[in-house]
Amino acid sequence: MKTVAQIKLPIEYEMELFEKKFLLSMYSKVSLLNRITHYVVNRKGKQMRPMFVFLIAKMSNKGAINDRTYRGASVIELIHTATLVHDDVVDGSNRRRGFFSINALWKNKIAVLVGDFLLSKGLLLSIDNNDFDLLKIISVAVREMSEGELLQIEKARKLDITEEVYYEIIRKKTATLIAACCAMGAQSVMADKEEVESMRQFGEYIGMAFQIKDDLFDYGTEKIGKPTGIDIKEQKMTLPLIHVLNNCSDKKKRWIINSVKNYNTDKVRVKELIHFVKEKGGLEYAVSKMKEYQKMALAILQQYPDSTYKESLELMVNYVIDRKK
Ligand code: IPE
Ligand code: IPE
Ligand code: MG
Ligand code: MG
Repeated sequence: MKTVAQIKLPIEYEMELFEKKFLLSMYSKVSLLNRITHYVVNRKGKQMRPMFVFLIAKMSNKGAINDRTYRGASVIELIHTATLVHDDVVDGSNRRRGFFSINALWKNKIAVLVGDFLLSKGLLLSIDNNDFDLLKIISVAVREMSEGELLQIEKARKLDITEEVYYEIIRKKTATLIAACCAMGAQSVMADKEEVESMRQFGEYIGMAFQIKDDLFDYGTEKIGKPTGIDIKEQKMTLPLIHVLNNCSDKKKRWIINSVKNYNTDKVRVKELIHFVKEKGGLEYAVSKMKEYQKMALAILQQYPDSTYKESLELMVNYVIDRKK
């Protein structure tokens, strides 16, 4: 059986019901909005975040979940979708999930407003149902994601990113949302404080591994449903490049920085730079860091008694680093 199908087995019913609720959660009286949200829903992503919410809620409450869990999953996926719609504007990207992005089809103006709409729908879903504990978890993640994206822009402008700052960026822009969805899964079934915190930490480690993997995709040529090879063009230095930068001669350092600064749109020069990063073991280093985070996530799971949910979560951690898109 395919890994994803296997992971979903213990939450098949929940994921099906979730999809219906998720579509309803986007409803608006404005028909243009409904056209766009239908477009979004029909090109769904991997839905990893709702899967984490359900698996963790079930693992921590002996299989019993409730309406709060469903709302938590919808809130997370709404916010995730909102940030992707905005991210494609920020990155000037015209592809998402194998199709045109919202900004490519409807232009930036509309994409910015659709992102805001989805964000507000997410927050209101918690407010209208008095899920203030869940709202707190998600609001922190929203703040951190904006900060992470802005820190990334600041570093792309100054080109002074260090490995430490890279981790801070990916923790904020990606890992906090996955941490939030894992914490929310536990919180939705009223798990105790320590357990919510331990699930948050679990999600944070997975999120770090997840973004390192995403940054590795950018160095590849596989079709993943969104553009690759664009990070250097955007003057975005990620882990493979940062590692090589920290481990080469001053002369090479100047060549790298000069390439990113002044030749980022020169296809031949970018190719040379990518080749240099690969030759100097940048990808292997990033893979080893990704695996460290994977290990730390798995170690947290080991504290739980065996169950089908735990098994799925283990598969999921491995899927994050083995996935093909
Ligand atoms: C993409 O997330 C954004 C990142 C944090 C890298 P996903 O890869 O989970 O996106 P979808 O929902 O499956 O398209
Ligand atoms: C991840 O950023 C998306 C957010 C955290 C908002 P990226 O720009 O690195 O992700 P992709 O590659 O476009 O999905
Ligand atoms: Mg981005
Ligand atoms: Mg992007």
